[in-house]
Amino acid sequence: MKTGKNKKSSIAALNTFNNKVFYTLTDAETRKLGSDFAGVLKPKDIVFLNGDLGAGKTTFIQGIMSGFGVNGFVRSASFMLVSEFESQKCKLYHLDLYRLDENNVFDLGIDEYLFGDGISFIEWSDRINHYNIKKRWEVKIDYTENGRKIKIKRHL
Ligand SMILES: Nc1ncnc2c1ncn2[C@@H]1O[C@H](COP(=O)(O)OP(=O)(O)O)[C@@H](O)[C@H]1O
Ligand SMILES: [Mg+2]
Repeated sequence: MKTGKNKKSSIAALNTFNNKVFYTLTDAETRKLGSDFAGVLKPKDIVFLNGDLGAGKTTFIQGIMSGFGVNGFVRSASFMLVSEFESQKCKLYHLDLYRLDENNVFDLGIDEYLFGDGISFIEWSDRINHYNIKKRWEVKIDYTENGRKIKIKRHL
């Protein structure tokens, strides 16, 4: 049955990324991984990205955006907090919370991004730990000797 088959293949696609570790040697490889990962994302998904400054969170998101067919450069959102993009599937929100601490994050009005119909990508998600968001994708990027280790996990 067609729907059954689609369901199976979408689960297979999810399993390509859930609980997986990837190693990239260049920023281009990280972008490619992000672009492929975009294929499993659905409206209302929330994606946390964590890792040290310069680890490659924004680079990975650039790849995701290109996977969604978004043109234009995704720069670090640090000074703008939220960058909004439009894709064929849904709206995409890039939130970089680096400059926030838990005390001034309450009146940001970011709920409309997190709990709207788009997909949110959040750098430095520890700033909103108090939101207690359970259902999410988590992308953790670490430096390795010659590149990056990128761990992807889906929490339900
Ligand atoms: N394998 C890699 N993956 C991602 N970025 C890499 C890699 N190797 C080198 N880089 C460089 O590291 C930097 C990552 O920056 P950025 O994505 O802004 O990090 P973050 O958002 O985590 O602070 C970029 O200058 C990028 O070109
Ligand atoms: Mg960044």
